[in-house]
Amino acid sequence: MSNIEQTLSIIKPDAVERNLDQQIKTIFKNKGFKILKEKKLRLEKSEAEQFYKVHETKPFYNDLCEYLSSGTIVVMVLEKENAIKSNRNLMGATDPSKAEEGTIRRQFGKSIDKNSVHGSDSLENAKIEIDFFFKTS
Ligand code: CMP
Repeated sequence: MSNIEQTLSIIKPDAVERNLDQQIKTIFKNKGFKILKEKKLRLEKSEAEQFYKVHETKPFYNDLCEYLSSGTIVVMVLEKENAIKSNRNLMGATDPSKAEEGTIRRQFGKSIDKNSVHGSDSLENAKIEIDFFFKTS
């Protein structure tokens, strides 16, 4: 049975500032993801805090929000069979030094913070994250 899902992907400031966004989008397309929606923007720190609210109690929360709001990002809605898991496999481990060969974070990530991409970790969070950036009403 098919299980087409949508997930939210962010190309983070470290990757956009190195002009890697087109290259990363090509990787997604070559892996069979459809880019249904896309925009380039910069978040206010308060918006980053809202986006990463699930990490609010973590020691790295403040730095994480400072970082995500430090520069331009590209946000996309990606669609594919099992998109959430498939995207997480393609991104690789959160820490680029632990990510497998052939993953986006292994190829482009600079550190656990500057790890080039974000992807939703569950169907529930994908809906929340897609609404955060693309809800029209
Ligand atoms: P991301 O997938 O965007 O979700 C939360 C982010 O927190 C994660 O990628 C990392 O960039 C960042 N982060 C910083 N420190 C840690 C840590 N110790 N464990 C997990 N994530 C971390």
